[in-house]
Amino acid sequence: MMVNLAQLLPDARRKRYAIGSFNVYNYETIRGVIEANNELGYPAIVAFGENYLTNMTVDEVFALVDAMSKRVKIPLALHLDHCKSFDHIVQAIKAGFTSVMYDGSSLPFEENIKQTAQIAAIAHAANVSVEAELGALAGGEFSNEESGEEIYTNPEQAARFVAETKVDALAVSIGTVHGMYKGTPKVDVEILKKIAAQVDLPLVLHGGSGTPEEIVKRCIRNGIAKINVNTEISLYTIEKVKELLQSGKAYHLSQLACKEVDYVKEVVKKYSTMFRAI
Ligand code: 13P
Repeated sequence: MMVNLAQLLPDARRKRYAIGSFNVYNYETIRGVIEANNELGYPAIVAFGENYLTNMTVDEVFALVDAMSKRVKIPLALHLDHCKSFDHIVQAIKAGFTSVMYDGSSLPFEENIKQTAQIAAIAHAANVSVEAELGALAGGEFSNEESGEEIYTNPEQAARFVAETKVDALAVSIGTVHGMYKGTPKVDVEILKKIAAQVDLPLVLHGGSGTPEEIVKRCIRNGIAKINVNTEISLYTIEKVKELLQSGKAYHLSQLACKEVDYVKEVVKKYSTMFRAI
């Protein structure tokens, strides 16, 4: 069954667990994310970023997720991750995505409110949920996303932002990075507490890869209901496929594709389990 984030995340924030939002780029990653969560019995958020439009179209992603949703028993949200283009958001909604993230984080505050509110009105008319971002994450290692300097979310601005835009979930910037960390992450849970005191919407933590478990759990206890994971799925799978290729055994591409699904599942299961064990 396909659902949107407004149907999934309020329960997570209330009961203090988080739902993993895992990035996909091809058939194998889509299958890995859905099967891993289905085996655990947890709802899944399949996230497709605007920057992977060179890999697949939104119609192709929807067709695969829709087909797989019919053979699993868990609720599935198909979410457009980090999108700055109005046209791409409309294309995803038309394709059947149940949720979109409009990323206006690089815009001046008032402009971010204005654009996000317009997109939320359009998306909500189609029963599609909206995530927005306030503040901006820095880029770590191995990320292929464009990430500049870290700008922490301002808690007072967050309250006004959600009231005026009517979004369903808010991504906050509190010290995690997109990609792997170069040193020890400096995650500021005190800012998160202040945001959570002002905003009772589900909050979203981007930059899940490599974030220490203890920090993840403190964030979930303080309002984070959705955590995005991308880079580690890619790094781990590449590393394991490299080992296979170096083992001396010959593989057919079809066999490597099945192995790829298994490696994606390992990472997804590690995080989905972590996000529940608070
Ligand atoms: P990581 O690549 O650091 O896991 O971040 C993923 C993310 O935030 C996608 O929106």
